[in-house]
Amino acid sequence: MSGFTVRPCLPEDRDPVLALAQRLTEGVAPWRDPDAVAAAVLGWVTTSLEHTDDDHGTFVAVREGHVAGFVTVTTRTHFTGQRDAYVGELVVSPDAERTGVGSALVGAAESWARARGLRHMTLETGAANLRARAFYRALGFTDEDVRLSKPISAGET
Ligand SMILES: CC(C)(COP(=O)(O)OP(=O)(O)OC[C@H]1O[C@@H](n2cnc3c(N)ncnc32)[C@H](O)[C@@H]1OP(=O)(O)O)[C@@H](O)C(=O)NCCC(=O)NCCS
Repeated sequence: MSGFTVRPCLPEDRDPVLALAQRLTEGVAPWRDPDAVAAAVLGWVTTSLEHTDDDHGTFVAVREGHVAGFVTVTTRTHFTGQRDAYVGELVVSPDAERTGVGSALVGAAESWARARGLRHMTLETGAANLRARAFYRALGFTDEDVRLSKPISAGET
């Protein structure tokens, strides 16, 4: 495995980035409709790629001339009114995992946030996405909110 570089996403990165987006279905709760999940993740990434203004950052990692991962970052207002950096999507290609690509992409998002004076970086991931949770924990993220879910049984009103 050779080295990689991280740079802002260019228009020609669109197809490889969209190809990686499918990995965002990993770790989604098994009771969610898989077709709807697949459509949603593609929609998120497509929308992120369309946003090229100063409030949105998209970075790719390039290894041997190929896109080995990408991250998108924007701002989101917390209920306290604080403006946070928000990581929308982060994906590393399977063959580049555990080589520091994900960490470098989060580092690029963090630099983007620091340059805008933001003080916190937040994101959401599936509770079942144990790999991503271990990764984020290793990078210093801690749990802030937890969304609970329970099926509603049919028959009783
Ligand atoms: C999660 C993901 C982005 C990690 O990317 P990566 O490039 O493999 O991560 P790094 O190589 O930078 O790993 C940094 C550290 O995170 C931790 N880590 C990463 N993957 C891990 C795993 N599978 N299990 C346990 N710890 C892990 C380790 O501490 C690792 O350091 P080490 O390799 O020196 O032990 C990647 O696995 C991925 O794209 N997964 C699918 C998509 C996804 O789930 N995205 C996040 C959704 S929000």
